[in-house]
Amino acid sequence: MPDTPRIAVIGAGWAARIAHLPAYAANSVTPVAIADLNELVAADQAKRQKIPNVYTDWREMIAKEKPDAVSVCVPNVYHRELVLGCLEAGIHVLCEKPLATSVAEAEEMFAAADRAGKFLMAAQNWRWNENSRAIRRIVDSGDMGDVYYAEATALRRMGIPTWGMFHYKQHSHGGALLDVGVHMLDLAVYLMDNPKPVRVSAQMAAKFGKRPEVAKQLRNAWDPAKFDVEDFAVALVHFDNAATLLLRASWATHIDAETFSVRLCGTEAGATTTPPMVYRDHAGIPVDEKLQVQAADWTASYTREIAHWLKVVRGEAKPMVKPEETLNVQRIIDAAYRSAEEGREIECR
Ligand SMILES: NC(=O)c1ccc[n+]([C@@H]2O[C@H](COP(=O)([O-])OP(=O)(O)OC[C@H]3O[C@@H](n4cnc5c(N)ncnc54)[C@H](O)[C@@H]3O)[C@@H](O)[C@H]2O)c1
Repeated sequence: MPDTPRIAVIGAGWAARIAHLPAYAANSVTPVAIADLNELVAADQAKRQKIPNVYTDWREMIAKEKPDAVSVCVPNVYHRELVLGCLEAGIHVLCEKPLATSVAEAEEMFAAADRAGKFLMAAQNWRWNENSRAIRRIVDSGDMGDVYYAEATALRRMGIPTWGMFHYKQHSHGGALLDVGVHMLDLAVYLMDNPKPVRVSAQMAAKFGKRPEVAKQLRNAWDPAKFDVEDFAVALVHFDNAATLLLRASWATHIDAETFSVRLCGTEAGATTTPPMVYRDHAGIPVDEKLQVQAADWTASYTREIAHWLKVVRGEAKPMVKPEETLNVQRIIDAAYRSAEEGREIECR
């Protein structure tokens, strides 16, 4: 593998424009090609990032350009087809979150990666956030003791996406849970050391997205009559080690402030990622420790994620987001949707 791998990008929307492309540039890598169904959008990003080749057909792109790795940055429902196509062509794949729309799909994708002898990694960029990394170091030190409870919180006050296809099941499969919830869910599962989920009880709601006055407030970015995903989700997850996780996600809620955080409760200490804090007992006195973490630009997690991915592609590292972690996240998501639909607790498969 040459020092500079041949990278191609599929999808030239938000995730490519704000996350992947600037992060490749920050790592001194210029993708060899970009594809989007919308040629203008792809050409615009190509011009900005000095990418030499533009395609509207990703299959033609990978056949002609023979990249070593691709970034898949298209709406969720289309991940499967692109991921399988690229893996079958012998290409490593970094795919935007959520990787899949079901456990069966995720298993199919990882099996294809194994067959091809290539890596497939879900782009869970919050793993590379500086607070997440600091809390993971403290968990690894053993200072938390036995982590028996966690909270994964991704609550927006008024943040229904104002672009893309996020509002429709047909393209995105789900709403707030898959858009923002999965970031904190993945982080919580990772910080808890990937216990196996066994059952989930969940509720979902669409309290804002269907309202024309809300759509109007957010630039009429979607058709409220066709909005058919959740804008609120809550779930209680039980794991096989008796730990529990409370997951909450919203695109809109009447709360004081947007909150993206994971809380861990261990037998020796507790912690939150935002703010980066550890709570413990010192000689019988409760102590709050504020971690002096170097705050970075909010896009830094993307830059670090891509730096890691380039190492994976060069054969210098194994994916930090492991298949078994992504599968457990997907098991929780599948059970949460079923639980909300059927109005009962669901066993994870
Ligand atoms: N990690 C993050 O912070 C983050 C942020 C936003 C979105 N995402 C994820 O990224 C993915 C894309 O979201 P987005 O916000 O970029 O959406 P977007 O609507 O801005 O862009 C998606 C692009 O994909 C293109 N596309 C769709 N199907 C295609 C195909 N078959 N071939 C080529 N191009 C195709 C569309 O034309 C569009 O330009 C989603 O899975 C989303 O969950 C991740």
